[in-house]
Amino acid sequence: MTERRLLLVNGPNLNLLGTREPEIYGSTTLAEIEQQVAESAAEQGFDVRAVQSNHEGVLIDAIHAARADCAGIIINPGAYSHTSVAIADALTGVELPVVEVHLSNIHRRETFRHHSYVSAVADVVIAGAGPSGYQFAVRHLAGRLSS
Ligand code: DQA
Repeated sequence: MTERRLLLVNGPNLNLLGTREPEIYGSTTLAEIEQQVAESAAEQGFDVRAVQSNHEGVLIDAIHAARADCAGIIINPGAYSHTSVAIADALTGVELPVVEVHLSNIHRRETFRHHSYVSAVADVVIAGAGPSGYQFAVRHLAGRLSS
């Protein structure tokens, strides 16, 4: 694998981080998370393409595009985790290592959040660590891709 690039995907409503239900999601903005991910990836010799969309098809197109020039994917699919077979299929289709991140512990919340279609195809699932979950994801992928 020659590409030293990670795709960071954030799904619907995550553009509102910082003001959206801060008691659940905290006060860190998406821009701050993207910056932190870029910095920790850079320390490991990776660059990052960050994509956020509220549209399922845009997220799928970004996942497909990663096949050409990315080595791994970090994805918080937001509510699409619980509904989207299409995003899970896209992740399977591109055959890249995938880390699924949730800011909140979805297993401690409403029952409809307990199941994620993406978890069934992800290599690693991190839930409940807040923004640090994205850092853990970078660390995992950087280690895996460098070994
Ligand atoms: C989330 C959890 C989802 O259930 C929710 O729909 C989100 C955010 C999280 O990061 O904790 O939008 O993925």
